[in-house]
Amino acid sequence: MSEILLQIDGREVEAREGMTILEAAQNVGIVIPTLCHHEKLEPYGACRICTVEVEIRGRTKLFAACLYPVEQNLIVRTSSEKVDRIRKMILELLLAHAPYSPELQDLAKEYGADKDRFEKEASFCIHCGLCVRYCAEVKKKNAVGFVDRGTRREISFIPEIASKECWNCKECFSLCPTEALQTAFVLTKALISPPSSFKPESEE
Ligand code: SF4
Ligand code: FES
Repeated sequence: MSEILLQIDGREVEAREGMTILEAAQNVGIVIPTLCHHEKLEPYGACRICTVEVEIRGRTKLFAACLYPVEQNLIVRTSSEKVDRIRKMILELLLAHAPYSPELQDLAKEYGADKDRFEKEASFCIHCGLCVRYCAEVKKKNAVGFVDRGTRREISFIPEIASKECWNCKECFSLCPTEALQTAFVLTKALISPPSSFKPESEE
């Protein structure tokens, strides 16, 4: 794979063909906020909090850093008035869904986002898809999925699969930037009884 030289925040950065701007930045310790990215998962591009400014032939455009592939001589700015304004707006919209998410609250502080700007629609899930994709792509179990569409879209554990697979896994829990996942799991747990093979964690 050939080496590519680009500029991120005024710094010359070496990357390999096929890498995204996010990967190139992370490689040299430049932090770009993410909410739907995970290094083991295919890029998804749902949250747009990783938006950066990219200069192409003298014109500046906005792209999701987790999706955009590196190119020779690309000029990238990970922070600017425009980028920060967009991130602030995204956070305000997401906080209407998940006002108590510590991860969102930390980012809100950083970008001066007002958690009360938009009317609350507290579904607690911000549709980052991390749980759904991790279960499908890494665990290959598809125990959790999205149901419904649009603003009513939410995640749900599939009871038949969850009853066999989830009790001793729960790897998706730590990925969730909000409380939604645990809540959905607790609800599912209330609906189904653990299989006879289930052992409480203390006995494992
Ligand atoms: S439950 Fe959590 S991890 Fe799953 S999609 Fe919603 S916010 Fe993302
Ligand atoms: S981290 Fe890039 S769109 Fe979510």
